[in-house]
Amino acid sequence: MFSTQTYIARRAQLKKALGSGLVLFLGNREVGMNYAANPYPFRQDSTFLYYFAIDKPDLAAVLDIDHDREILFGDDLTLEDIVWMGQQPRLRDQAEHAGVREVMPLRRLPAFLKKARRSGQTLHFLPPYRPEHQLALKDWLGLAPAQQKAAASEALIRAVVAQRSYKSEEEVAELERAVNLTGDMHVAAMKAARAGQLEAELAGLVEGIAVSAGGHLAYPVILTVQGQILHNHYHGNTLQAGQLVLGDFGAETAAHYAGDLTRTFPVSARFTPKQRDIYQIVLDAQLHAISLLRPGVRYLEVHLAAARCIAEGLKALGLMQGDMDEAVAHGAHALFFPHGLGHMIGLDVHDMENLGENYVGYSETVQRSTQFGTAYLRLARELEPGFVLTVEPGIYFIPQLIQQWKRAKHCAAFIHYPAVEKYRSFGGIRIEDNALIAPDGHRILGRPVPKSIAEVEALRSAAH
Ligand code: GLY
Ligand code: MN
Repeated sequence: MFSTQTYIARRAQLKKALGSGLVLFLGNREVGMNYAANPYPFRQDSTFLYYFAIDKPDLAAVLDIDHDREILFGDDLTLEDIVWMGQQPRLRDQAEHAGVREVMPLRRLPAFLKKARRSGQTLHFLPPYRPEHQLALKDWLGLAPAQQKAAASEALIRAVVAQRSYKSEEEVAELERAVNLTGDMHVAAMKAARAGQLEAELAGLVEGIAVSAGGHLAYPVILTVQGQILHNHYHGNTLQAGQLVLGDFGAETAAHYAGDLTRTFPVSARFTPKQRDIYQIVLDAQLHAISLLRPGVRYLEVHLAAARCIAEGLKALGLMQGDMDEAVAHGAHALFFPHGLGHMIGLDVHDMENLGENYVGYSETVQRSTQFGTAYLRLARELEPGFVLTVEPGIYFIPQLIQQWKRAKHCAAFIHYPAVEKYRSFGGIRIEDNALIAPDGHRILGRPVPKSIAEVEALRSAAH
């Protein structure tokens, strides 16, 4: 938790941006896994954390801009709660730490909202992403869940995105802590991996490191010998010599800022020549993309530059053919690189994705592409100082996609299908780092994690 002044200033900036109305923030609730009293680990809503800091369930907050009031709605623990959960700081003290002076019981919120609406105040709320919030909004405002996304306040979404996109120094320090912890997890996995092990053993190891440091996972661990499956959360395969392990996992700190790194390494001490070729292309694309990061450049351009690097590299290997600028314009690279180059990162690993990706990653002048591959790009807009983002190109051989494109002769002028066939069972490689956009360029966050072929092989050789 940052200083009280930080939260007061954040809310003041938001109120100034909106000018009038009543803003409703819904904190998250506990969610039962298999019965109500056996909940998933509690995760507070990130926007609630950003403006109110309080990391506890069953809270809501209101900024009544028209009447200059800030109110936290919630309840102190009953004696019975304390018997089961122990003493907790009083809500009033927690509110005070966030600089909020008024606290009211949660049961008074519906009547409070009703009165505000009756008096003609504009109500701003964010699009709900949890069913319990959808039910609450239905009860309190009479809005069916299907209507709520459209009824959410665009002005509020834009104002929140305009604040959370620019990371303060204290936020960058927290993000760097998360990236360092994430780096420790990756180095540990690279050191521990052995042929004969289950992926689950490594997945458990890295999760333990995040938890031991007082953090959590920022998202479910991807750790797989089937790296061609982009978000593969299955951990039941056994590592075999000659295979690649793709690890895409990250920690969030106790303050809930996220790290998101990806490394790919051989189960054996060395990459095979084929793996080495593809790895070097991904690495070159990543380093080139990083070299382009600076204020004013559109991330869409950086994405396309990485795609061209990948296409040129694959052409040199005989997997692509023809003019690579044209190939990328036609989207041919997406057979191998079917996702976006990266996304913003902050209190969420895909920062603010619940507010709407287009508000976060696009602008009036940069519209989302409809082309397969580039359409998945989460961040395309002009970069500005204070943005923190991921750079994560990859090359994958997805048998089903290859088969479909080949059958349809899709982009056949640019893809040499007979050569691609020889890579059908290759798997996938992705390399990811996290970068801060600085006034004069960029800075990669965190201590370096082995990335070049020589560095990765040195670590893997020491492990054998
Ligand atoms: N780390 C997973 C992703 O960026 O989608
Ligand atoms: Mn990522």
